[in-house]
Amino acid sequence: MPAQIMSLEKGGTEFPAKLTKQVFVCSIIAAFGGLMFGYDIGISGGVTSMDDFLLKFFPTVYVKKHNAKEDNYCKYDSQYLQLFTSSLYLAAIVSSYFASLSCKKLGRKPTMQLASLFFFIGAIFNVSAVNLPMLIVGRICLGVGVGFGNQAVPLFISEIAPAQYRGGLNICFQLLITIGILFAGVVNYFTSHLHAWGWRVSLGGAAIPAIFLGLGSLIIVETPTSLIERDRKEEGMETLRKIRGVSDVSKEYEEIIHATELAKQIKHPFRNLMKRSSRPQLVCGTILQVFQQFTGINVIMFYAPVLFQTMGFEGDASLLSAVVTGGVNVLCTLVANFCVDRLGRKILLIEAAVQMLIAQSVMGGILAAHLKATNTMPSTYATLVLVLICIFVGGFAWSWGPLGWLIPSEIYPLETRTAGFFFAVSTNMVFTFIIAQAFLTMLCHLRSGTFFFFAVWIVIMGAYAIFLLPETKGVPIDEMNERVWKKHWFWKRFYSDEKASC
Ligand code: BGC
Repeated sequence: MPAQIMSLEKGGTEFPAKLTKQVFVCSIIAAFGGLMFGYDIGISGGVTSMDDFLLKFFPTVYVKKHNAKEDNYCKYDSQYLQLFTSSLYLAAIVSSYFASLSCKKLGRKPTMQLASLFFFIGAIFNVSAVNLPMLIVGRICLGVGVGFGNQAVPLFISEIAPAQYRGGLNICFQLLITIGILFAGVVNYFTSHLHAWGWRVSLGGAAIPAIFLGLGSLIIVETPTSLIERDRKEEGMETLRKIRGVSDVSKEYEEIIHATELAKQIKHPFRNLMKRSSRPQLVCGTILQVFQQFTGINVIMFYAPVLFQTMGFEGDASLLSAVVTGGVNVLCTLVANFCVDRLGRKILLIEAAVQMLIAQSVMGGILAAHLKATNTMPSTYATLVLVLICIFVGGFAWSWGPLGWLIPSEIYPLETRTAGFFFAVSTNMVFTFIIAQAFLTMLCHLRSGTFFFFAVWIVIMGAYAIFLLPETKGVPIDEMNERVWKKHWFWKRFYSDEKASC
């Protein structure tokens, strides 16, 4: 029997709640949205390094790749090849806005169902693609699925989780992202041996997480907040009782009623978000996602096999290395699950910044010294770079990865929470798109300097975490303004003249 806990919510009120099987199962099912996202992140790099795929859709890249004289750093540089990877994120940026409306009007559960449907259609297009436009249409459908999923899932988990478990349950989303990336790496490893059509299996595999989410979402509950928000109060009360595992949920119910009434008074949440008093959360929630992407993580996630081939690993070894980094990613995310509510957010972010800075700089140094335009890097150095990549990925996995999603979901007051979270999701997609679109070109022009470029960003984000980011560990979500923002040495100034400016 799970222990009964008392959740601390608004004004320090205690809400009785158990961590019920229902909450746990619903969170895991919803987190399959993360599996879709992760599968996609992990699959494209492997597929774009497969000869059969290049020959069919990107013959000029295929020729460049096999031209012995071709510059190591430039052999994959193709705007079209990058567009294959990044078109998904473009679609996700646009769709996350519609997903935020759908979350509000239709509910979190139907939004997740739409996500799985779009993702499934995208997988079908990709598995049967006979030309580039078909491939891109498939990617766009997958992107719409990702936009809907990433908007609804973290919100859904945060709303059904009891306060004390919110951090750990929320990080299940990131955990499933990392499992999706690893799963994709394993699939690519095997399909690269299936000549002529292995890439189809890789891309078609995206249907599996979509089916999991689609079928799973048939048995999950809708969140009480969403039901109450849409005037289905009795159903909301019933669901709350069921998921909390206690008979008296009246205090929490009243709290949700109060919060939704307040939120309903705000007719224009996006306009409200532009007020001076919303600026601290808006800046922090958004910039965290910018920083998350400027760690350079997706260079590894999207292009690991390509990068390893650039360093001289053979086809097989390079895909295997992507599996190794994927494994490190999953294991180190578990560290975040256990540490985030014990050690706090800031310490994880700062420690990881130092770790990632060292890894990126040494990596850049090794490539500068040992990977010239046309040589093959000595294998000891290539292996050392693989170790450094693992150190880098490990640091990211217990910090900027999960916290990039967790912190924006916990810092906003209810009236601006969904609108604010939309900014986090779309910023993530915009910057993922930029990195996906620009990396191979950057690698070609900046060469090993690419890694120093990311190292500089890591210095900036480390300083930001030290001086400007407030600690939110253990603070009840509806007391953030009073206990965090209004007390912070820098951000408190946005509240001092609140009346005058709003
Ligand atoms: C990021 C992705 C990244 C993944 C790696 C996520 O939190 O949003 O861009 O690829 O972590 O695990």
